[in-house]
Amino acid sequence: MSQLCHIPDLTHRRDIVVAIQGWVDRIQQFRRHAFIILRDGPGAHHRVQVVIPGTLGSPPVPESYVRVTGTVKALPEGKYSYQPVEVQAASVEVLSGSDPEVLSRCPSDAGPETKITERHLYLRDARFALITQARGLFLQALRKHFRTTGCTEIVPPCFVGNQCEGGATLFKLKYPARDTGDMEVYLTQSSQFYLEYAVPGMGDCYCIYPSFRAEKSHTRRHLTEFLHAEAEWSGIATLEGLLDKLRGLLQGTLTSFLKYCDQAGDLLGQLQVRERVVKLLAMTRSIQVMTHAEAIAYCRAHEIYADPATKTPFGERDDIPEAQERQMIDQIGTIVFLVKFPREFKSFYMASDPADRSYVLGCDVEVPGVGEIIGSGVRVATPEELSFRLKEQGLKEAEYREYLDLRKYGAGQTAGMGLGVDRLLTWLLDLHSIREVVTFPRYPGQVVP
Ligand code: 4AD
Repeated sequence: MSQLCHIPDLTHRRDIVVAIQGWVDRIQQFRRHAFIILRDGPGAHHRVQVVIPGTLGSPPVPESYVRVTGTVKALPEGKYSYQPVEVQAASVEVLSGSDPEVLSRCPSDAGPETKITERHLYLRDARFALITQARGLFLQALRKHFRTTGCTEIVPPCFVGNQCEGGATLFKLKYPARDTGDMEVYLTQSSQFYLEYAVPGMGDCYCIYPSFRAEKSHTRRHLTEFLHAEAEWSGIATLEGLLDKLRGLLQGTLTSFLKYCDQAGDLLGQLQVRERVVKLLAMTRSIQVMTHAEAIAYCRAHEIYADPATKTPFGERDDIPEAQERQMIDQIGTIVFLVKFPREFKSFYMASDPADRSYVLGCDVEVPGVGEIIGSGVRVATPEELSFRLKEQGLKEAEYREYLDLRKYGAGQTAGMGLGVDRLLTWLLDLHSIREVVTFPRYPGQVVP
């Protein structure tokens, strides 16, 4: 029996007999022989050219899963394929055949709808496979950054019993009660509270976990299930402290991401990741910090209206809707830390600005093309203020027993953030829609495959 090799391991082998298994990516048929490209993963180094002499019969149908036995040979000088070697086949065994119609089910130039309904097949597309690989590498980069900055990974629950951020976008579902019948629970919108609970025992911590939002939004930035990287840092009571953490996070993860892409080879070339990440890293060195009040002034000065139809200008304490916010950030053309929001439209847990308690120490990270990628803030530290803020927002203290306990038993003066991984990747890879980076996107009406 010949030695079974993975395709990437062939690169340094010469003149030995191997067996390889993979999917037939492409076929080129000549009179006396055929070339097939065999694939066992994403990118060039998972592809190899196999020469099939005519004596072995017709080549297998594309997407068949085959076992090839043959000799690894260096490619002749000046010849190019995926590897510096090719495999000259002595035998080709079809382990699982395919149907030629597969090629028309989801070609690379298929429309966005087809790429969703045929996602299970589209994952074989060379470019989408690289995007999926880049997503994995970005998660590695995030984990590396958190690990090297002393954060511990926590695994929060998905089912939760209270509403955390407020009810409007919560998925409610029936959940078995202890004895008989059902109780109502929710799918988590954010794991922030769970990280806050963990901090006194674990120190700084983070999680990378799905969050769910029952938003009926069919936009290129919204999903009903998205990957949320959240962190909570102790001993940070000022906005400046939080902004330093956010700068470090962006620079650290982008730097590691670039390094991992370098190691993965062809990702850089085919997705042009290097040029893009280098440009974005430069942007992280000159982030614009803008208060909400300055953002309102900017909108007024640049004909960005609260109501574009009637050209109504923004009032000083208005919340800037997503569309107008994106318009502003696209015009500014760089990363913006939008800070210090009027207290009335941010969550009860954001600390007040000591300079003007009607504002809170929050920071939304905004990027051109995508808009908000991070929501963050310094947390309210005292039980008195927390009780006051809960009441102010019409929330019941009894439902926040554990959260109040944190302030009662040694508040860690934390600040924290939630990063929408899918939005960040859309920005990082310079793609149009969040649906292009998520392996199996979930949005209204979309749950299969
Ligand atoms: O601003 P958000 O709602 O913040 C929170 O949930 C905080 N509790 C996080 C924290 O402090 N731990 O959401 C954070 C980020 C947004 O900036 C955005 O990138 C992403 O989550 N996000 C979505 N991504 C895709 N689809 C959606 N429907 C999203 N909603 C929020």
